[in-house]
Amino acid sequence: MTSNTQTSFDPANPDKPYETIQVAVEGAVATITLDRPKALNALNSQVLAEIVPAAEALDADPAIGAIVITGSEKAFAAGADIKEMKDEVYPEVAEKRLFADWEKLAQLKTPLITAVSGFALGGGCEVAMLGDILLASESAKFGQPEITLGIIPGMGGTQRLTRAVGKYKAMDLILTGRMMDAEEAERSGLVSRVLPAEGFAEEVQKIAAKVASMSQVALAAATEMVDEAYRSTLEDGVEAERQQFWRLFDTADQKEGMAAFAEKRKPEWQHR
Ligand code: CAA
Repeated sequence: MTSNTQTSFDPANPDKPYETIQVAVEGAVATITLDRPKALNALNSQVLAEIVPAAEALDADPAIGAIVITGSEKAFAAGADIKEMKDEVYPEVAEKRLFADWEKLAQLKTPLITAVSGFALGGGCEVAMLGDILLASESAKFGQPEITLGIIPGMGGTQRLTRAVGKYKAMDLILTGRMMDAEEAERSGLVSRVLPAEGFAEEVQKIAAKVASMSQVALAAATEMVDEAYRSTLEDGVEAERQQFWRLFDTADQKEGMAAFAEKRKPEWQHR
């Protein structure tokens, strides 16, 4: 760990504090913490207006090798803000593309780790699923309860949950609105790992630091190719992977990584 900066302020705009998130940087790991405790981190327009530029600024910073999005012990996020959205009407919601900007978090080049304690419901579950790696505390509870409000998931839940857990588990969760605990979520393929509630934040940092210690060109190629598996046929995906794999032999980090292995030393990445 080289630097250690704690900030609740937008580094690009230090006079204007964030109201709904906190941003902290430790070494090469940046952590964005959702911070609306009175509303169980419900995702209102202010959260969206703060988190997307914050994440994009961190993504553009070459010193950052992994971004973590997390919440509180009680709630990652209990969904989109129901009180804010209850009077919305059609077609205005379509015209302003309500919630579409959350998808920008899926387009970050830097590996995104979502770390869930407590409730990850509705939009909260959908933001958790934007992570490249989804870590869950034993206390995590996932669900898509939109049906109980007379709506359906609107931030990618019907698509990402189904791809993660398959049709029948996704239908069960989306049609009943029930929650599933961390153990069921792991068994179903929704989460990367379940970690003990005690020391959860520290373990998340260690995992993020491990990811951030890798070559950034290799990380970007790896995340792009795993995502390609969702978009393409197996044949096209394998060909796209080959192209990426071959291109990595044109990087300094491939030369360094393999030389370091042969010389029994740690690699020094140049991220190019
Ligand atoms: N929106 C707005 N406020 C919310 C909220 C939400 N999604 N979730 C919780 N809150 C608020 C509560 O209204 C309450 O505020 P007050 O103290 O002012 O009454 C505060 O947070 C604490 O919540 P509870 O008292 O309800 O806490 P609890 O521990 O008894 O229950 C809970 C926790 C089961 C998560 C419950 O809060 C709940 O069911 N929340 C709503 C979950 C939900 O339906 N999420 C889906 C939203 S729709 C969506 O996300 C659409 C999409 O796909 C984009």
